[in-house]
Amino acid sequence: MSTRNLGRSEFGDPKNTGNLMSLKEAYALLNEWVPNERLRLHMKQVAANMKAWAIEKEGADELTASKWELAGLLHDADWERYPDDHCRIIIEELERRNIDPEVIHCIASHGPSVFGVEPVSKMDKMIYAIDELSGFIHAAALIRPTLYEGLEVKSVLKRLKSPAFAAQVSREDIADAISRIDTTLEELILFIIDHQKNVS
Ligand SMILES: [Fe+2]
Repeated sequence: MSTRNLGRSEFGDPKNTGNLMSLKEAYALLNEWVPNERLRLHMKQVAANMKAWAIEKEGADELTASKWELAGLLHDADWERYPDDHCRIIIEELERRNIDPEVIHCIASHGPSVFGVEPVSKMDKMIYAIDELSGFIHAAALIRPTLYEGLEVKSVLKRLKSPAFAAQVSREDIADAISRIDTTLEELILFIIDHQKNVS
């Protein structure tokens, strides 16, 4: 687990605050680095949830919402190509491109137990909470004949209690992430179902 520890807690350069990349550039990077369609969908789903959360729950302005979206869109961009260096490579790429340090810190803190970076901002805390749960909810939808149609919070909760289902998803991380925000697990599951069901 500790091999991916990033060994630092400062990312990017404060002078790049407000510096993002366009969605077109972000998609170009994804298409180049992530041939796996399902992984790309996962990042698009996390991005949709993050952007919607920023706007609906945090009252974010356009720039801030774009930061949340970009962090979601790129958080696993290096996972397929560089599994042993996951997170370090995309962070270095974004630093090289002079991207806003808040976005880079957010990506760096999406798995504190793996990358050794504590979520600090609300954006950091939300990517940590949304990431695993989004993937888990998608797995729960995929096994249903009607997919997201009729998927209820209680059935997601039931699957979370069944260790064999999507066993790679850490229930501990989900509980830890929820403990850091003032939103219940039930509320967040409902939010994610609503905001990722139409992402393609
Ligand atoms: Fe992820």
